[in-house]
Amino acid sequence: MVGSVAITGASSGIGKALAYEFASRGVQLALMARRMDVLVDIAADLKSRFPAVKVETIALDVADVDAILPALQDAKKRLGSLDCVVANAGITGVNKTGAGDFQQDIRVIQVNLIGGMATVDAAARIFREEGKREQGKREQGKGIIVGISSVSAFKGIPGSAAYSASKAGFSNYLDATRIELKKHGINVIAVHPGFVKTELVRNMEKYPFVISAEKAAHDIVSGIVKGTSNIIVPAMPWAVLGRVMPLLPDKLVEKAF
Ligand SMILES: NC(=O)c1ccc[n+]([C@@H]2O[C@H](COP(=O)([O-])OP(=O)(O)OC[C@H]3O[C@@H](n4cnc5c(N)ncnc54)[C@H](OP(=O)(O)O)[C@@H]3O)[C@@H](O)[C@H]2O)c1
Repeated sequence: MVGSVAITGASSGIGKALAYEFASRGVQLALMARRMDVLVDIAADLKSRFPAVKVETIALDVADVDAILPALQDAKKRLGSLDCVVANAGITGVNKTGAGDFQQDIRVIQVNLIGGMATVDAAARIFREEGKREQGKREQGKGIIVGISSVSAFKGIPGSAAYSASKAGFSNYLDATRIELKKHGINVIAVHPGFVKTELVRNMEKYPFVISAEKAAHDIVSGIVKGTSNIIVPAMPWAVLGRVMPLLPDKLVEKAF
């Protein structure tokens, strides 16, 4: 079981719901995001509901990749241990390709892909170091790294090309690092949510099979506890659709979006 977790993007949506789900299971928390005032309020509420759970708040912008390792080291120091890191921070970006807003696409890649990769890399470094200390010369880490990708990794969504690319890239990266880090005792888990009602996108309720952030968090944490390497939420229908999506003809995708 996970005893302590650091979550990026914990100030709203899925990250915040994950904090409550982990806390309800007695897991110590390090909450990270840019909006410290929001994190502090969430931490106060968590402490009042779950007095036995330690909750730390740490300011982190994952676009500042050099800040990620020190922030996770700080989380570990303050919690006394770190078993799991959830790379959840992300932004959306609707952009008409060629319409003169490529800066928005760069930002999406910077936060979702580079920021996500940098979080995984920093977590792996901490877990591998820990293993070195415990085992003497033989490096054998331990820990769980969770990356929040998206079902848009399975098929590019028109109007969200950079977002889809960021998630496809992140899923691919998680696949490779899972195999790479297994020998160090580190489990890398990829999460592919469908549509979840959060602040990410306005009018999310108009999208198909939409679920609450609480339901998503419950299913994600249950999957993490089981050690599932690819968590799809909600499992139905996305586990089936995920296989079909790459095969869909352009015309159908155009109609759907
Ligand atoms: N909602 C969905 O339908 C859905 C579906 C598939 C995947 N996802 C993925 O789930 C993750 C969470 O999204 P959400 O739906 O919960 O959205 P959200 O409610 O908008 O939450 C996004 C979180 O990321 C943080 N964040 C944004 N930019 C950041 C940065 N540069 N550095 C650090 N933190 C940053 C935000 O906090 P601050 O603003 O305080 O920094 C916030 O806590 C994202 O990776 C998203 O792509 C969501």
